[in-house]
Amino acid sequence: MSPDTPATADTADKRALLDVLERLAGECESALGQASSLEDVEALRVEFLGRKGRLAQAMNAMAKLPPQDKPEAGKAANTAKAALAALLDAALETRKRAAAAAAFAGFDPTVPGRPPLQGSLHPVTLVMEEVCDILSRLGFSVVAGPEVENDWNNFEALNMPPDHPARDMQDTLYVTESILLRTHTSPLQVRSMLARKPPVAVIAPGKVYRRDSDLTHTPMFHQIEGLLVDTKTSMSDLRGVLAHVCRKLFGDDTRLRFRPSFFPFTEPSAEVDISCAICKGTGACNGTPCRVCKTTGWLEILGCGMVDPGVFAQVGYDPETYVGWAFGMGVERIAMLKYGIGDLRMFFENDLRFLGQFY
Ligand code: PHE
Repeated sequence: MSPDTPATADTADKRALLDVLERLAGECESALGQASSLEDVEALRVEFLGRKGRLAQAMNAMAKLPPQDKPEAGKAANTAKAALAALLDAALETRKRAAAAAAFAGFDPTVPGRPPLQGSLHPVTLVMEEVCDILSRLGFSVVAGPEVENDWNNFEALNMPPDHPARDMQDTLYVTESILLRTHTSPLQVRSMLARKPPVAVIAPGKVYRRDSDLTHTPMFHQIEGLLVDTKTSMSDLRGVLAHVCRKLFGDDTRLRFRPSFFPFTEPSAEVDISCAICKGTGACNGTPCRVCKTTGWLEILGCGMVDPGVFAQVGYDPETYVGWAFGMGVERIAMLKYGIGDLRMFFENDLRFLGQFY
C-alpha cells in the first residue's frame, strides 16, 4: 500500500487482498522450483488452487469487501487463478516429459526388434496330413474315433477274444475291465464297417497307447489305419496303393518288401518294409553304418493283410460277398525316415530347436 493513499479500513482491506493475489503466482513459481516430482506439483496445485487453498482463502476474504471494491478484486483473483493454472500445468508437463525421458534412457530405437516365435506343425502332424492327403486323392475318407475305446472294438471284433495270446503284445491302460486306451487304430475298421455299407474306403489317423517304453517305443504313438471293402479287390490292389503312398512320401526309387506275418484280424497278413530312405537301402551312409535301418537297408513301416472273414461276420458283412484289405502304419517311423531323425524320443521332448526345423 502506498503511503500517500488515505488509509480507511476498507481500502486497507482491498489493498491487502490485492497484494495477496498479486503475490500468489510468484510464490507458486518459487515453490515449483523446489518441486521435483509429479506428486510435488500436485501437492502445490492443492495448496494454491484447492478447495481450501490459498486462492480460495483470498476469495473468502473478497466476500467481505464492500461492493464497489469487488469488481477490481474479482478481476485480480481471475488473473491470479489463470496465472497459477498456467504455471502448474506447465510444471506438470515438464515433469511428465522428464519422467518419460528417464523411462526411455538407454533405449536405442534403432536396434532391430526380436522377431516373435513362429509356430510350426509337429513332424508327426505333417506326416499324418501328407498321408491323408495322398490317400484322400485316391478316394479314401478320413474318419476318427475315440482314444478311450471299448474292448469289443479294440480286441473282440478283431478276432481277439478274452485270453487270446495276441492281446499280450498290446497291453494298455484299462479304465474299467472293458474300457481301455486303444492299442491300435484298427477299432476304426470295426466302427467304419458298422457305420457304413460297402464299398468302404476309409483312413483313420490317430494316437494309440501301449505299455511299451524303450529306445524305439513310446507308450503313446501314432498310427494311420486304412481299410477297403468291396465285392472285388485283392492283395495286389493293397500293394499298389501302399507303393503309391510310399513313393509319394519318399520318392519314386523307394522299394517295398512284403514279409509274411500274422495278425488275428487279417489273413493272409504281411509286414511291409521300405528301402531305407537315409542310406538309400545300402545300409551305410558315407562309409558309416546307417543307424536308422541298423545297416539292414530296410525299415518296417506297417502291418497289413486281407480282412479276416471272421471280422466281417462280427460286423454283419457277408464273408461270401465281400473282400477287403487293411493296413496300419506307424507315423513316427515314417517321420523318422522322411526327416532323418535317429531318436524316437525327440518327437515328444518338446524341444523347440528340434520342432522348429519342420515346415
Ligand atoms: N493294428 C496292427 C498293429 O497295430 C496293424 C495292422 C492294421 C495289421 C491293419 C493289419 C491290418 O500292429
